Amino acid sequence: MKIVKVCILGAGTLGSRVALQAALSGYQVSVYDIKQEALDSSVKVMQKILRQLIKLNQIQDQSALEIVHKITFTLDPLEAVYDADIINESVLEDIDTKEKVWKLFGSLAPEKTLFTTNTSYLLPSLFAEISGRPEKFCAFHFHDVFYSKIVDIMPHPGTDPKMIPMLEDFGKSLHQVPVLVKKENPGYIFNSMLMAFIGAAGRLLTSEVASIEDIDKSWMVNFNMPMGPFGILDNVGLDTAWHVTRKMPDRSSQAFAGLLKQYIDKGKLGEKSGEGFYKYPNPAFREINFIR
Ligand SMILES: NC(=O)c1ccc[n+]([C@@H]2O[C@H](COP(=O)([O-])OP(=O)(O)OC[C@H]3O[C@@H](n4cnc5c(N)ncnc54)[C@H](O)[C@@H]3O)[C@@H](O)[C@H]2O)c1
Repeated sequence: MKIVKVCILGAGTLGSRVALQAALSGYQVSVYDIKQEALDSSVKVMQKILRQLIKLNQIQDQSALEIVHKITFTLDPLEAVYDADIINESVLEDIDTKEKVWKLFGSLAPEKTLFTTNTSYLLPSLFAEISGRPEKFCAFHFHDVFYSKIVDIMPHPGTDPKMIPMLEDFGKSLHQVPVLVKKENPGYIFNSMLMAFIGAAGRLLTSEVASIEDIDKSWMVNFNMPMGPFGILDNVGLDTAWHVTRKMPDRSSQAFAGLLKQYIDKGKLGEKSGEGFYKYPNPAFREINFIR
């Protein structure tokens, strides 16, 4: 099966990135969301990423900025999924929302369409049956797309094994390194490790062992990293992190989820809202003196 058209559900942080990379890789792309503001902001996010990539010389061609105009942004599910060979779903990390979306697109998508979800911590088997085509359903999970170029392929027990090599090829065509998660595991490979690390940082903060800045500095200096756990959380989005953390029953995760909720209630969602643990576009951890 040849993939020509890619349909992205959810025009947020990740949906915008996957859509842009798919367009840059020569695919026809549609982006669907329920909010016009999200679609408008997706266009701006894509243009910003393109300008950064041009500045970093990762794209030489200035005309790449025009690629955004080739993408279809729509509030109409039928228009979004028309003739789609594959869907990659990046809507809110919330079971009810994802169930609703998969039920809808399961009934609207052409028979050929492969279904993939970009969920960070939920499992594909939660949505495979509701989508109406469990054999064509698989998790296909990106990280940052442009700077962290790993894509997890995680089938559920009912996924047709033929989907795996197709997704490996598709992932490579999007300039990602595909890795296979042989059985369902919340958080795939990298995020399983990341959660342990973020959880430890959250525990250090909520039990008042150290400040946000000192926790980040410890990580940055020891591993020569450009950001620490709280910089990473700002990048991921505090709302996304909260959706994951609040479901963890242990006391320290609950305390950290409570702290994340306080930030969210103040509109501090991280980089995408201009403020999270740090203020953007010039967060303190990027200042030259931060780790001196
Ligand atoms: N942020 C990350 O670093 C990251 C990385 C990998 C995977 N993911 C996963 O990608 C998904 C999206 O995360 P995000 O960070 O882009 O979130 P986000 O909040 O930036 O975007 C979510 C988008 O979903 C839209 N939406 C909500 N309900 C919808 C519906 N019923 N139909 C269509 N669109 C709907 C919202 O309007 C919003 O634009 C989540 O499952 C998350 O776990 C996120």
